Amino acid sequence: MDETLERTQKDWTIFLRLWKYIRRYWVVLVLSLVLMLASALLDLVPPLLVRNAIDRHMEKIHTFNLVDGQWVEAEDGDFELVRRDGKYYLTNGEEEYEAEESLVRSVKDRDYRQLLKLGFVFLIVLLAQFATTYGHTYSTNYLGQRVVYDIRMDLYYHVLRIPLSFFDRTPTGKIATRIANDTQNLSEFFSSVITSMVKDVFLIVGILYMMFLLSTYLTLRSFFVIPLIVGATLIFRTFDRRAYRLVRTRIATLNAFLSEHISGMNLIQIFNRQTHKHREFKGVSGDLLKAQLQQMIVFAIFRPLMDMIYHVGLCAVIWFGGKAILKGELSFGVLYAFVAYVDMFFRPIRDIAEKYDILQNAFASAEKIFNLMDTPKEELNEGGRETVSEASVEFENVWFAYENEKWVLKDVSFRIEEGERVGFVGETGAGKSSIINLISGLYRAQKGRVLIGGVPLEEYDLRALRRQIAVVQQDVFLFSGTLLDNIRLFDPSVSPEVVKRVGKEVRLDHFVSKFSSGYMSNVLERASTLSAGERQLVALARGKLFGAKILVLDEATANVDVDTEFYIQQALEALKGITLIVIAHRLATVRNLDRIYVVHAGRIVEEGSHQQLMAKKGLYYELYRVQYVEV
Ligand SMILES: Nc1ncnc2c1ncn2[C@@H]1O[C@H](COP(=O)(O)OP(=O)(O)O)[C@@H](O)[C@H]1O
Ligand SMILES: [Mg+2]
Repeated sequence: MDETLERTQKDWTIFLRLWKYIRRYWVVLVLSLVLMLASALLDLVPPLLVRNAIDRHMEKIHTFNLVDGQWVEAEDGDFELVRRDGKYYLTNGEEEYEAEESLVRSVKDRDYRQLLKLGFVFLIVLLAQFATTYGHTYSTNYLGQRVVYDIRMDLYYHVLRIPLSFFDRTPTGKIATRIANDTQNLSEFFSSVITSMVKDVFLIVGILYMMFLLSTYLTLRSFFVIPLIVGATLIFRTFDRRAYRLVRTRIATLNAFLSEHISGMNLIQIFNRQTHKHREFKGVSGDLLKAQLQQMIVFAIFRPLMDMIYHVGLCAVIWFGGKAILKGELSFGVLYAFVAYVDMFFRPIRDIAEKYDILQNAFASAEKIFNLMDTPKEELNEGGRETVSEASVEFENVWFAYENEKWVLKDVSFRIEEGERVGFVGETGAGKSSIINLISGLYRAQKGRVLIGGVPLEEYDLRALRRQIAVVQQDVFLFSGTLLDNIRLFDPSVSPEVVKRVGKEVRLDHFVSKFSSGYMSNVLERASTLSAGERQLVALARGKLFGAKILVLDEATANVDVDTEFYIQQALEALKGITLIVIAHRLATVRNLDRIYVVHAGRIVEEGSHQQLMAKKGLYYELYRVQYVEV
């Protein structure tokens, strides 16, 4: 499983493709951006409120003028109201009067009221913060999950249409990873990156702006921490990227190890490899542990380092700010707000640095997803010929290879008439199944022609053609669901009555009557509840139900006991009229058929009835003799 983060496509090409999905939800996108902006702006408000509370209502110096023997409050009055030893005085430096209690109270009451008002505004800001944060988190995640859902659906839709040859080359696990994990990574991109990163950028800009607005003097003097932050972040990025990649690769190795060994569990247990495998797993698992600890070290250094830089910055702010306050050039409230903003400033920066990996990872996943989406689809030739007018099969000098020039079928020619029953025999690997793969159009011959009903296969609508050719394999795959659904392939338009009728025709009802819930019984994915023979009858019923005109049994009876084979033979008898192609290892299965082809190393070397072939004393005779002696 390739879990590398290396990419061939540019970030923006990937982003453009993602954008096509995002664009559909542009209303949500705009909404979430607006809410994000609002939420960032609201985050900037509390320090300002506190600053106002301090400067305007706690630290405010009230001044008065003495007009006609009355104290009148004024902006730049001559007398200051000061407090000393629990008493209030009005003083202008030379004269000093004790302030009347009513005067003090009226002034202080006003400050209390203003503070209360500010507290109320604070509360409203908090509520608005809550609402906007909820709003943008929800809307961004809604957007992200919708996009990921759409991509997942498109991807699976596409995978369903990729030619089978692709699946020969690509391990199942890898495709499953694309659809499940890679889309998950992409969803993290939305839930943890976009949601916070965009807001982080808004915040950083906003905080810098507020800092300049409050005090250019302090801002400029604390700017020296910026190169420190950038430096620390860059160093962190390099080390973290390395550690992160190592973790990803090791997780992938672990997954690959597990999926391989769990599917091979029977072998491990039969050959008593448990201890050995356990030791092997210790290596893989230990590697992951090491990589993860390494990554933790990087984080464990980065976070306190950033904290340190933050505190250095804070010291600078307090030093320069304190001096300015002592000189009377700065108010205490501004210093407070400044400290609060410096504190706020570090959070989004750390956030962005730490989430950069997730972003990279998401883009790597997106690229892999899009690459899978770009694998060419199977040419189904939709709109082509739909019906097979005559169920005959003909090969004309067919040459075929799965990989170039490694010929699996060499110059194969034969003709099977409608309603004929023929057999193909030969050693394993001779090319029998490949012939079937060509008949059902799963692969294309490189040379020669395959004709169904006298018409070249290329002219058919492949989906329509496949409905008319039923292939029963040795290992019939059943989906999890009921027996009924497995026969009608989850097509609800087929009524249970029809299924039961067909089941009777192919002798399936004999087995089904043994199950307590009949056709409604559940079969498990691995179908251990049904024997190989029963599953083949299910496949026969499927073929019959969907109106197959050509029936192919590929080694269907190889694993089946004699009793079940008898039922299958009976079922085949009941399907008279259908063109029947039987591939068999056991020669007894084919001896009564109209004609038998002997396949050897990709060529048809003999053909004829059982008697003719026996009389010929060729390869068939040899095969028969070996089996006869063996039995
Ligand atoms: N999907 C595939 N990709 C590559 N080679 C294949 C594939 N399927 C079968 N082959 C090869 O083609 C040859 C014929 O295989 P097959 O037709 O399955 O033989 P048979 O069914 O007679 O046992 C074998 O050498 C086999 O290894
Ligand atoms: Mg085969």
